[in-house]
Parts: sequence; C-alpha cells; structure tokens
Amino acid sequence: MRGEVCIGLASILALASTLLLIFAHVGQINTSNVPKGIYMTKVNVSGYGDSLEVAILNPIFGLYTDNASAPLGDSAGLRQYYQFGLYSYCAYVNDSAGSCSNHTAGFRFTPFDTLVSDMRSNFSTLTQELLPGDLILRDSHYLGQTSRAAYFLILLATIGAALTFILGILKYSITFFLSALAAGISSLFLVVAAALWTVMINRSNDINTRIIGSAMNTTPLGIEVSTGTGFYLIWAAFACLFLSMIPYIISCCTYRG
Ligand SMILES: *[C@@H]1O[C@H](CO)[C@@H](O)[C@H](O)[C@H]1NC(C)=O
Ligand SMILES: *[C@@H]1O[C@H](CO)[C@@H](O)[C@H](O)[C@H]1NC(C)=O
Ligand SMILES: *[C@@H]1O[C@H](CO)[C@@H](O)[C@H](O)[C@H]1NC(C)=O
Ligand SMILES: *[C@@H]1O[C@H](CO)[C@@H](O)[C@H](O)[C@H]1NC(C)=O
Ligand SMILES: *[C@@H]1O[C@H](CO)[C@@H](O)[C@H](O)[C@H]1NC(C)=O
Repeated sequence: MRGEVCIGLASILALASTLLLIFAHVGQINTSNVPKGIYMTKVNVSGYGDSLEVAILNPIFGLYTDNASAPLGDSAGLRQYYQFGLYSYCAYVNDSAGSCSNHTAGFRFTPFDTLVSDMRSNFSTLTQELLPGDLILRDSHYLGQTSRAAYFLILLATIGAALTFILGILKYSITFFLSALAAGISSLFLVVAAALWTVMINRSNDINTRIIGSAMNTTPLGIEVSTGTGFYLIWAAFACLFLSMIPYIISCCTYRG
C-alpha cells in the first residue's frame, strides 16, 4: 500500500470514530430531532398502566401525565417512555412532545428511581411493592455506578480519538507512533465502556418478559427496555478506532517523510 493511501485511510477511520463519539455525546441533551433519535437505552412504560389495572383489579386514574412541560422527578405523573443518554434523560408524553432533565457529566443511569420519582406517591408505593425485588432495573446502585464509569471511559476515548486524528496529520514517524498508541488505549477504553453498557442493557431487559403480581396471571409488566442508537455508535466508534491502529503502525514503521 502506498504511504499516502495508508495514512489517508488511518485519518479517515480516526475522524469517523471521533465524529461517531461526538454524536453519542449529543443524545438526549434536548428533544429536537437529532438528539431525540440518539440514546443509549429506552424504557417504555406505556403498558404499565394496563398491567397495574389487572394487578389491583381497579381502574387506574392519574398514573400518567400528558403535560409535556410538567417538571420531571416531581411526582407529576409518569410519561409514556424514557430515553437515557450520556448526560441526561428525556421523557416523552407522545412521539412529538417531551422534556429533558438537567445535564450532568458522569450522569447515572438509574431508571427505576427516575420512573418512581415521576409517579404520585400512592402509585410509587404500589410500584415499589409490586415490582419483583430481583429485577436488575431496580438495582440503581449497580446501574448508576457502572454507567458513570462507562461515561468517563467514553469521554477519555473521545479525547483520545481526536488526538489520534490530529497527531496523524503531522506526518512524522513519531506522531504516527503516538497516533497508534492513542488509538490503542482509546479503543481499549471504548470496548470496556461498550461491554459495560451491553451487560447493563442485557441484564435490565429481563423486565421485558416478567409478569405482574402473582404467578397466577400472565399479564406482562408492561415495562420494556430496549437498546438505542447511541449504544451502536459506541461500538462502531470502537471498530473504527481499533482498525485505524493498523495503518498508523504501518505508517510509523515505513513512512520516510
Ligand atoms: C411503547 O410500547 C408500546 C406497547 O408495546 C408500543 O405500542 C409503542 O410503540 C412503544 N413506543 C415506543 C416509543 O417505543
Ligand atoms: C392515586 O392518587 C390519584 C390522585 O392523587 C388518584 O386519582 C388515584 O385514583 C389514586 N390511585 C390509587 C391506586 O390509589
Ligand atoms: C403530544 O403532547 C403534546 C402536549 O400534551 C400535545 O400538545 C400534542 O398535540 C401531542 N401530539 C400528538 C401527536 O398527540
Ligand atoms: C403543565 O405543567 C406546567 C408546569 O408545571 C404548568 O404550568 C401548566 O399549567 C400545566 N398545563 C396543564 C394543561 O396542566
Ligand atoms: C435543574 O437546574 C435548574 C437550574 O439550574 C434548577 O433550578 C433545578 O432544580 C434543577 N433540577 C433538578 C431536577 O436538579
């Protein structure tokens, strides 16, 4: 492979990885179109009202709110679904209206606390009692700590991916070597972060197949956890950055300025 082609390929891969990671950071910072489509995971609770009705054998009033501007986490009523990003979450009353929480670096993914904090107190008490205690979705300590750790790994990897790209443009053997090194370390961070999220999602989505109340009925809980685009962006960013290492190593050993 000719030197310029090799370096060009490495730069494209490093740049692609950086851009994918920037997109992943943008998810759920507000409710406009692009951020709305990017999230790590979605918790859809639109079926929960019906299940609750079956479980308590009474019609349910006031579980949900359809006021998109009602404050979050203030017992103002459950939204239809919640999408969690790297800095905040957004809760949607329908496909076109919702609101987002404040942004924090190292945001903790604590879906159960989020849901319960939106319910009026009588429903939150009921939910605490009805939802099986062994659900991973309820384990806010594990999910919160893990998502926070994954966030910092992704942040460092984003800086590392940008450095990989910038150093690679300088075109010295030493900078190619440093690019390869940055790509190696950052892709290691990314694969760990992506694996942490994979495990978090795969363990919490066992709620999708659970039933509500006693084993006598077969009504699903009506709470569904699913994987979002942001999650795939992280894996794709990892793949690009990891692959970019190869042409950087080749360039570092063969480039003659
Ligand atoms: C939420 O779940 C309901 C029932 O399964 C489904 O009809 C609806 O399309 C889902 N909404 C979203 C945004 O996933
Ligand atoms: C919970 O409280 C709301 C209003 O505060 C009421 O409309 C609803 O019926 C109550 N639900 C239950 C199950 O007690
Ligand atoms: C969504 O909810 C908002 C706020 O309640 C409302 O103004 C809007 O008409 C709803 N949109 C649809 C498609 O139902
Ligand atoms: C929606 O919530 C906001 C904020 O609490 C409140 O000011 C507004 O009056 C509510 N709208 C309706 C239709 O209840
Ligand atoms: C979000 O930020 C605003 C302004 O900084 C603050 O007043 C509000 O209490 C915060 N909300 C939460 C839920 O922390």
